[in-house]
Amino acid sequence: MNFRTIGRMGWKVSEIGYGMWGMGGWTGSDDAESLDSLQRSIDLGCNFFDTAWAYGNGHSEQLLGKTLRANAGKRLYVASKVPPKNRKWPSRREFSLDDCFPPDYIHEYVDKSRANIGVAALDLIQLHTWEDGWLDDSRLPRTIEQLRASGKVHAFGISLNRWEPWNGVRAVRSGLVDAVQVIYNIFDQNPEDELFPACREHKVAVIARVPFDEGGLTGTLTVDSKWPQGDWRNIYFVAENLKATVQRAEALKPLIPAGWTLPEVALRFILNNPDVSTIIPGMRKRRHVDANLGASDKGPLPEALYTHLRAHRWDRAPTRWSQ
Ligand SMILES: NC(=O)c1ccc[n+]([C@@H]2O[C@H](COP(=O)([O-])OP(=O)(O)OC[C@H]3O[C@@H](n4cnc5c(N)ncnc54)[C@H](OP(=O)(O)O)[C@@H]3O)[C@@H](O)[C@H]2O)c1
Repeated sequence: MNFRTIGRMGWKVSEIGYGMWGMGGWTGSDDAESLDSLQRSIDLGCNFFDTAWAYGNGHSEQLLGKTLRANAGKRLYVASKVPPKNRKWPSRREFSLDDCFPPDYIHEYVDKSRANIGVAALDLIQLHTWEDGWLDDSRLPRTIEQLRASGKVHAFGISLNRWEPWNGVRAVRSGLVDAVQVIYNIFDQNPEDELFPACREHKVAVIARVPFDEGGLTGTLTVDSKWPQGDWRNIYFVAENLKATVQRAEALKPLIPAGWTLPEVALRFILNNPDVSTIIPGMRKRRHVDANLGASDKGPLPEALYTHLRAHRWDRAPTRWSQ
């Protein structure tokens, strides 16, 4: 496992971190399997874990707490998120700070997450949705300062809405945030346009999420893929998105060298970008942990393949099903 320095915090984090959404509530989750996968990741050098109160109303956080206690003495970095008060993902331009993150409510959820995970301080707390317009509300910088001064969080970050990397550039430039979490993968390369240069300039950490486009870039989906009732992927992969995603993933397959896999290439593609501090693939299975953490040892992609893959950029705009 290789490590990168994460933004101005100076922490050395594993370049493959751990995304903990699925184990909080996607159908097919099994706590014993999730805990085994988390432990395996630590044994292989992973030290950065991204969870959120919203991942199963604290359940994913509690699994992380168990894992931390089983690994006392190891420096493991904990990132969680405050859910928007109105429980609406993504946020919209017309939502106010009071709709989503009133100051008292932020404090309340920092305490909830600390209790759920069982830590005195969270390394990173992120707002689970974001609008750059909220910067105009002077209560927000005050709240962030109070949190840092309280010692309950070491760093403050924002998680940007899907396909809106522009809606975070002002926050990065404001100097207020230490980290941004953004979708970045072979399809979604648009954070490179404005967001990453701003992060570089202001030493803001980049947490690259959804490296597999929620499964599309694992190459395992077909136009007939369906998930059990209640699984949110039925909403994201509506027929029109599923068809387009499968077509685009199929177009990538001929580029994958013999003996390599699409998921491995998807992660290594992101490793090519030095602006990225850590990548957080979602994993619930030991075999996925083994494969994904192994991508770090294989390193960035050779230049020729990287260049070919860059042509598969897919610019998308938020729509009614995209969340
Ligand atoms: N708004 C936000 O802040 C937000 C939104 C979305 C995600 N996130 C964060 O980003 C993380 C990653 O995103 P995600 O989990 O939604 O999507 P993702 O990482 O793009 O995809 C996860 C899916 O890929 C599968 N997978 C993982 N490794 C694989 C491999 N080597 N081969 C084949 N399949 C593999 C997983 O299966 P198994 O689960 O069965 O192992 C899961 O179904 C989340 O867990 C969460 O921490 C944040």
